[in-house]
Amino acid sequence: MTVLDHDTFLTCMAEASLAPTVHNTQPARWGLSPDGTITLHCAPGAALPVADPSNHDLILSCGTALEGMVIALAGEGHAAQVTPLGTQITEPLARITLGGYAEPDPLASAVSARLTYRRPFAPADPGQFQALTTWAATDPDIHLITTRSRITEIAAQNDALSHRLLQNPAFRKELLSWTRLSKCHPDWSRNGLNADALGLPRWQAAFMGAFFKVFSPLDRLGLATGFTAEKDDTETAAAIAFLAVPKDLPALDAGRRYYRATLKLAASGFASWPMSVLVDDPDSEAAFLTEFRLTDHRLIAALRLGPIPKSPPERARLPITETAITPDLHP
Ligand SMILES: Cc1cc2nc3c(=O)[nH]c(=O)nc-3n(C[C@H](O)[C@H](O)[C@H](O)COP(=O)(O)O)c2cc1C
Repeated sequence: MTVLDHDTFLTCMAEASLAPTVHNTQPARWGLSPDGTITLHCAPGAALPVADPSNHDLILSCGTALEGMVIALAGEGHAAQVTPLGTQITEPLARITLGGYAEPDPLASAVSARLTYRRPFAPADPGQFQALTTWAATDPDIHLITTRSRITEIAAQNDALSHRLLQNPAFRKELLSWTRLSKCHPDWSRNGLNADALGLPRWQAAFMGAFFKVFSPLDRLGLATGFTAEKDDTETAAAIAFLAVPKDLPALDAGRRYYRATLKLAASGFASWPMSVLVDDPDSEAAFLTEFRLTDHRLIAALRLGPIPKSPPERARLPITETAITPDLHP
């Protein structure tokens, strides 16, 4: 069996770490056995007990990294065979064995371009819009909404459901624990959501911690929504894409599809900005599935899409050796 040398393994882990993960928790951990087998584990400390009590999004986020690893290995010329293992975050999730030669993945060049962008989008030019609709038409997982009036309705729905979520103090506390509002935060460049990634101006970031603490009294006065509303920015999206997968598809595989979909988008010139609340809320999800006539599916993402007007903020990522569980990869 092929055995990767440690430098190549580190390079592939670094590429896999660029995959999107819920709250930028980066839960994938990698082991490399002497026989060449790569094992994917989940870091339990990355769990979000309030926002994601079933760990669905956590395992999905390991799936995005898994797809990233498969793409990275192909870039090194290695064909990867993935065997699913456990489905709980305490068990190894998948094993990768290498065998034979692989051509580079056609989406590999989009890996470094893909990003989440949380500011107003730039207008899409007709060529980009055409690329987007062609991409959506050829991918059965994608349901694209481009009608302006419908985008406006969905923008309002997203704000209303997000507001309801924020009324839960435990949700606010958990979200804040993954938010880095100042560059002095020790994890600013490592993980979670920093103020730059959230698109927050300095003054707003400075007040956000306090705002979350006084959310309830402000909300009672009807003053909270103005601060959290995203409607105006959402309306700048060229389209909203819903990603639907068969109901019984394991979360790890759903993550692999999620990543490929966002890479296709990036290849067409589009950044994405998820609205998870639209797919996590059971009534909202059911209504969209009925609208798309896909009641035997489930939704894994609702993405605002658009080109970005300026260069993106730097990515926050864990040092790569921290995502390895193979002891001799640690310095
Ligand atoms: C399952 C999942 C759910 C997500 N939900 C949201 C969301 O509701 N809102 C949001 O702004 N970003 C969301 N994101 C995007 C992540 O926060 C983002 O991928 C992460 O911060 C890393 O940044 P990057 O995508 O720019 O590399 C989600 C990502 C995943 C994988």
